[in-house]
Amino acid sequence: MQAVDFFTYVKKNRFPVTQLCSIMKLTGNTILITGGSSGIGLELAKQFTARNNKVIITGRNKEKLKAFQQELPSLITFCGDLGVQENIDELVHFIQQHHNDLNLLINNAAVQYNYSFLSEPLLQEKISYEIATNFTAPVLLTSALLPVLLKNRNSAVVNISSGLFMAPKQSASVYCATKAAIHSYSTTLRYQLETAGVKVFEAIPPLVETAMTAGRDTSKMSTAAFANELFHKMEADHYEIYIHKAKLLKLITRIIPSVAKKMMRNGT
Ligand SMILES: NC(=O)c1ccc[n+]([C@@H]2O[C@H](COP(=O)([O-])OP(=O)(O)OC[C@H]3O[C@@H](n4cnc5c(N)ncnc54)[C@H](OP(=O)(O)O)[C@@H]3O)[C@@H](O)[C@H]2O)c1
Repeated sequence: MQAVDFFTYVKKNRFPVTQLCSIMKLTGNTILITGGSSGIGLELAKQFTARNNKVIITGRNKEKLKAFQQELPSLITFCGDLGVQENIDELVHFIQQHHNDLNLLINNAAVQYNYSFLSEPLLQEKISYEIATNFTAPVLLTSALLPVLLKNRNSAVVNISSGLFMAPKQSASVYCATKAAIHSYSTTLRYQLETAGVKVFEAIPPLVETAMTAGRDTSKMSTAAFANELFHKMEADHYEIYIHKAKLLKLITRIIPSVAKKMMRNGT
């Protein structure tokens, strides 16, 4: 493509028409957050509630969900394991029957197991569960809830991936692969929904202080700072949102990929 053609193309295609029409509003929504019982998901649930949104969270532990509901009485909870197809179907049915005004789906739930293919005794189980929770569930849930999102206004899907999709760490092989898959899927879903009125955001966190990263010494971002940066970027209609140090990792991956790989390979 010649230089002049390239700039004309960028000017013409920078903002798809439907996305220009409406900036993402972060109040007055009905929001489903998978994995809202801990860490990033719980922080998002609290902050979205404070901004006058109706928030539904999911998790696998009934007692934990009950406790958060007592703390925040407006929270709606759904208990189920999204690594299990029947639970995904039940969640979809629950939303269709009771919260048909859903307009924001946040695919956040995930597990990270650290193991070696050479020594892990529960290798097959761990691989299947990680793929089911981290990749299959968000894709199936999005597809099943798409008709609801399409009929409502200010609709969006937010997929939480990870900086590890750019440069994986050896101890979490399948986790990193599921995040690379989420990155690719988010990009193509965004292409497909570009003119349908449903925005597709991808949040790419750095290391954040949550149960998932417990016991790791390196400096971590707080969940509150994560949520603030995410909200700010969503309101500015940025779709691929590299948060905090994930921006630096992206830069290093672009300029000197071998250094990025080396830095991340032995990550804890
Ligand atoms: N923390 C980080 O540094 C970091 C960095 C990059 C990306 N991320 C991503 O950010 C997201 C949130 O992670 P986090 O750090 O907040 O983790 P977390 O504190 O461990 O929370 C994970 C949440 O997902 C839920 N969950 C896990 N497996 C589930 C399943 N099979 N079915 C239903 N719910 C399930 C958990 O619920 P219960 O355990 O109560 O069932 C919990 O609410 C994940 O997608 C993670 O990959 C995190």
